[in-house]
Amino acid sequence: MDYVIKQADAISTPSDCLIVGVHTQRHLSPAAAALDQATKGFITRLYQHHDLTGKLGQIVVIPDLPDFAARRVLLVGCGARGKMTKADWRKCVDAMARALMQTPARHAVSCLSEIEVNGLAFAEAVEQQIVAVDRASYRFDRFKSKNPDNGPVLRKLTLLAATAADLAVGKHAARCAAANALGIRLARDLGNAPANHCTPSYLAEQARQLAKLHRTVTTRILEEAQMRRLGMGALLAVTRGSHEPAKLIVLQYTGAASTVPPIALVGKGVTFDSGGISIKPAAQMDEMKFDMSGAASVLGTFAAVAELKLPINLVGVIPAAENLPGGCACKPGDVITTLSGQTVEILNTDAEGRLLLCDALTYCARFKPEVVIDIATLTGACVIALGEHASGLLANDDELANDLLAAGEEANDRVWRLPLWEEYQQQLDSNFADMANVGGRSAGTITGACFLARFTHELRWAHLDIAGTAYLQGKQKGSTGRPVGLLLAYLRRRAAQAAASP
Ligand code: BES
Ligand code: MN
Ligand code: ZN
Repeated sequence: MDYVIKQADAISTPSDCLIVGVHTQRHLSPAAAALDQATKGFITRLYQHHDLTGKLGQIVVIPDLPDFAARRVLLVGCGARGKMTKADWRKCVDAMARALMQTPARHAVSCLSEIEVNGLAFAEAVEQQIVAVDRASYRFDRFKSKNPDNGPVLRKLTLLAATAADLAVGKHAARCAAANALGIRLARDLGNAPANHCTPSYLAEQARQLAKLHRTVTTRILEEAQMRRLGMGALLAVTRGSHEPAKLIVLQYTGAASTVPPIALVGKGVTFDSGGISIKPAAQMDEMKFDMSGAASVLGTFAAVAELKLPINLVGVIPAAENLPGGCACKPGDVITTLSGQTVEILNTDAEGRLLLCDALTYCARFKPEVVIDIATLTGACVIALGEHASGLLANDDELANDLLAAGEEANDRVWRLPLWEEYQQQLDSNFADMANVGGRSAGTITGACFLARFTHELRWAHLDIAGTAYLQGKQKGSTGRPVGLLLAYLRRRAAQAAASP
């Protein structure tokens, strides 16, 4: 898809679809007023006949206006003039993007950035429209044997800027948005890919591709033999039941001097989670192909950061494995030794994410990262607590937690913090090892994070539980690409801070 910023007149710009905002009480945006004038009162008549009210999220498509430069016009209801909040704006942009995909337009021109929204800068308006349109245009049809011909045909979106200053700002925002959209697309493609294709080796290959594409990215893949030599007993315990070889994927992006400590992203890469010997129920088990969504978000974020050439250093660590109940599988009651030297009694083989992650987190300390963020579809309890709207956030550092909360708001990829109090730690007590890998039914998301906290004492660390946000269920089943938006917003803030302080 092409995203273009242009300083041009809305009415005379030719396109397949002109997108214009309208308000209630017959208040017209500047573009709508110009449109009304150019069409001898067409918009006014729509209001008169009550075909148009302008209420928030209303969409009216006019397929053909005689003697008009645009083939069709898409009117977007923006509610009362001057009263629009950022949340309202998002709703409108999403409605616009969905409606646009229903039209046969190949090239659309949007005038929506001119709509006044409380606290919304032009750059944000541009970025949000591009990300929303890209999201709406996404299809995953790699595995459909007949090419469906009912998909969206949009190829180009032009966003109009009012001034030369806006034009410059808009061009930068469009570049950022396109990189963001690319990262989200990659994460969605990987998440949606079925587990018989998307194996640990496949994820490793994706990392290699990123390194091939960008001089700034290098990849190193650790094989099981190397993990054994290092002593990654927890990661290896998870993969024992599968024939697919586990991989520890290490990515490095260099955008700043080598003396600048990196930010580390650690992503859970369970390409299929059957539960292992503690096997899951059959219903919806297919959704456990999404259990590598943390890994997908790390790869998507790397793609976006490399595209934007952000002036930061970044390390990615992806422990990738399959959790299956084979003849060699680890069993409830097994005691293993982690890379950190701490021992774990595996009481439930379905709590495998924390086992992979604890070794990856210990490994990641060797890069002396400034902060570490792990991203994991870790607990079903998080879906119960927060549903699909917010990812769980648990951290041993308030500043990092607050930065992530703010970045989530900015990117509309929200997180909500849960406590990591010491009191919860005792739920992990074991009679046979340093700790158990599960902490009972209560506070499952917190005890999952408590387990990880035992491996991150020396790090400034945050954990994102994306079990509820990484994919949708039911008719809309599929990866959301979250939390690439959040991570990129956080890293862009960090890049801006780095640029501001010498
Ligand atoms: N991958 C699952 C968590 C999950 C559940 C993600 C539902 C998305 C939707 C994880 O490996 C798991 O099985 N967790 C267990 C932990 C329990 C055994 C302590 C869970 O949540 O039931
Ligand atoms: Mn599991
Ligand atoms: Zn899992």
